[in-house]
Amino acid sequence: MGEAPLPLEGKVAVVTGGARGQGRSHAVALARLGADIAVGDICADIGSVPYPLADADDLAETAALVEAAGRRCAAEIVDVRDLDAVIGLVDRAATSFGSVDIMVANAGISAVGSVCELDAGSWADVIDINLTGVFNAIRAAAPVMRAQRSGRIVGISSMMGRSAQPGVPAYTASKWGVIGLCKSAALELAGVGVTVNVVAPGNVSTPMIHNDAFYRTVRPDLPSPTADDLAPVLARLHSQPVPWLEASEITAAVVYLVSEGARHVTGTVLNVDAGASARFSA
Ligand SMILES: NC(=O)c1ccc[n+]([C@@H]2O[C@H](COP(=O)([O-])OP(=O)(O)OC[C@H]3O[C@@H](n4cnc5c(N)ncnc54)[C@H](O)[C@@H]3O)[C@@H](O)[C@H]2O)c1
Repeated sequence: MGEAPLPLEGKVAVVTGGARGQGRSHAVALARLGADIAVGDICADIGSVPYPLADADDLAETAALVEAAGRRCAAEIVDVRDLDAVIGLVDRAATSFGSVDIMVANAGISAVGSVCELDAGSWADVIDINLTGVFNAIRAAAPVMRAQRSGRIVGISSMMGRSAQPGVPAYTASKWGVIGLCKSAALELAGVGVTVNVVAPGNVSTPMIHNDAFYRTVRPDLPSPTADDLAPVLARLHSQPVPWLEASEITAAVVYLVSEGARHVTGTVLNVDAGASARFSA
């Protein structure tokens, strides 16, 4: 008797922002479940973002991990703000690998800044990447999936997409927007075999939170704050007493939403946030 096929054998997944962090975790896990992977990442810093984004070495490392799992990987430098570039990534994956079955719209940046001081460029970068970038991913994948009459789209929001905190107006607005966008797309695509869902993570241990700029923002009272100084403040955003989750915990939710068992789950938001969402109503 031959071995049973892996659950995503023959499937193709596209992951934006997959050079590192949660996106890499999603890409590698989907590969280990049998999917070929196309991963896009900007691999460059952005002036308004006060911490380094991924680089080409990070992207190559994701590709190596996917290939070590025995799957094909198309790794491309793609800025999710550029719709034509995202369409190119998706269409090349469909042509090279035969289909596009999964889209994980994961790329994002964090931004902190008072509504009294945030400049227009910072606002625009956050909305363009975190919200328009998810639209571009859906806009690129949905026509291919509609033609296939099957597909799974997962947008990455945040616990900040379901609540609010002072000092993060652009990030909060962008992540609330992801939920409205994905619910609208879920309704539109419900009749053609395509699900669209959202994962809303709590704090996750990635370079987005582990960087000096974020440490200093969260602990302006300390001259050289460290991760240990950040932890108690971030833990207060959760209900369970943990400061941050591992990327693999968010990946578990993504894996569920693209699984066969979730075929009738669409338009929903899965909170993976150490109970932060227990505090709010919807
Ligand atoms: N880390 C957290 O605490 C946290 C919490 C909730 C939600 N999120 C969300 O999870 C997602 C993944 O973040 P992460 O924690 O892995 O952070 P990360 O900074 O490690 O990864 C984000 C990736 O997106 C890429 N990226 C940024 N702008 C891009 C663009 N314009 N085009 C293409 N790629 C771009 C970066 O280069 C990086 O590789 C983001 O949407 C983020 O907002 C993060």
